[in-house]
Amino acid sequence: MPTYVAAIDQGTTSTRCIVFDRQGQIVSLAQKEHKQIYPQPGWVEHDPEEIWRNTLEVVALARIKAKLSAQDIAAVGITNQRETTVVWNRRTGKPYYNAIVWQDMRTADLVTEFSANGHGQDRFREQTGLPLATYFSGLKLKWLLDNVAGLRADAERGDALFGNMDTFVVWNLTGGPNAGPSHGGLHLTDVTNASRTQLMNLQTLDWDDQLLDDFTVPRAMLPQIRPSSEVYGTVSSEVLPGVPIAGILGDQQAALVGQTCYEPGQAKNTYGTGCFLLMNTGTELRPSTCGLLTTVAYQFQNEPVHYALEGSVAITGALVQWLRDNLGIIKKSTDIEPLARSVEDNGGAYFVPAFSGLYAPHWKADARGVIAGLTRFVNKGHLARAVLEATAYQTVDVVRAMEQDAGVSLKSLRVDGGMVVNSLLMQFQSDMLNGPVVCPQMTETTALGAAYAAGLAVGYWQNLDDLRQNWGVARTYEPNMDEAQRARLMRGWQKAIERSFGWEE
Ligand code: G3P
Repeated sequence: MPTYVAAIDQGTTSTRCIVFDRQGQIVSLAQKEHKQIYPQPGWVEHDPEEIWRNTLEVVALARIKAKLSAQDIAAVGITNQRETTVVWNRRTGKPYYNAIVWQDMRTADLVTEFSANGHGQDRFREQTGLPLATYFSGLKLKWLLDNVAGLRADAERGDALFGNMDTFVVWNLTGGPNAGPSHGGLHLTDVTNASRTQLMNLQTLDWDDQLLDDFTVPRAMLPQIRPSSEVYGTVSSEVLPGVPIAGILGDQQAALVGQTCYEPGQAKNTYGTGCFLLMNTGTELRPSTCGLLTTVAYQFQNEPVHYALEGSVAITGALVQWLRDNLGIIKKSTDIEPLARSVEDNGGAYFVPAFSGLYAPHWKADARGVIAGLTRFVNKGHLARAVLEATAYQTVDVVRAMEQDAGVSLKSLRVDGGMVVNSLLMQFQSDMLNGPVVCPQMTETTALGAAYAAGLAVGYWQNLDDLRQNWGVARTYEPNMDEAQRARLMRGWQKAIERSFGWEE
């Protein structure tokens, strides 16, 4: 059996390839950022061809760095930014349009139109677990079909293919001259990604004819829905020739798998561009009444599907980048912590980063960013603090909604993602939750989860216990704030967030 498993993580800001060993340790890592395209306010696009080129590059680089041949890799798993929507031509491989990114808000009018039939934003909640929002793929796909000349006709003929980034990457990895009459290869996705399109029925785990009708999406353009862990085919591209592609998971579900949250009630929060808190709810669908999503957690080979409740927050780490790139208050992202430590507290300032409207638990497309509580006393240290605190407050709102929906209180929170190295933030998170925050030794849980899915399918790991053994605690943050202060801070946040509502007409 070859010695390692690889994961391709096609994320919002970059594409990475990480190679893991049996202990879940990193053997090699390569990463490349791609362009963020903002054609107008509220619109966010990626160039799918650039992403595909970057994918090839990072896989090749990860192999070179550790001097690995394709024979050293037992399997490859794919994980991806979810909801981001791309449509391409089956014969030429050419995208019809840039990928429309999950954060993009061009479908806000469609959300209003679709919500105006008496059921409001919850019109499709029962079938899909999701509210109507600009976030999910279905309305983005409808926008493309309605706005790109010739696309609908091609889609109806089966010439135009839809996918999220997982589907696009797999199609290209399995394509090329040996792939038969069409340029590309396998056209498929996994249940977790499909559950974010708003076109899949959560019970049947298949595309839903009524939803396809409502969104006017031709079935011929949709990928086949498969479990998250099984051998789908082998790579035909020369970067990993013959290596089985054996796992696909949306990136937040992959982090849940990487954090080994396999028991109902176990939860993780990933601090990246946004924050995504997922709680495993087992094999039963748990509807939300508190503004969370019901979504698929994962489906291992020959196993029933596991579901999750999810609280998605659009902007957290992206706010730190905004401070760096748009305001120039810091030079690099890591400068935020010393700047925030230069002051005692937030000086009364609160920052609501509603740049893409507000997601969970509010779901308000008309919200916009707000800085509240300013006086002449406030300096850039206080703003840096308000930026970090915004991440923690948004997480508290989601945790409280989760506790209400699930009917249990969260004993501790497993965390991962780029921002967990920020100990000021992690301590503040624990203070505001009034509970422990647990950082694992391995924080690259997203790629690890995809590797686990692929490795399980080919027998590289035998069972979930093999994976659980790889998980260990690096550091636990315990709460250290009195109740009166916590309540005062949350009141300030609450007031600030209400000021962000209803901004866009
Ligand atoms: O739902 C969006 C999420 O999957 C994006 O994650 O880590 O690529 O920002 P990330």
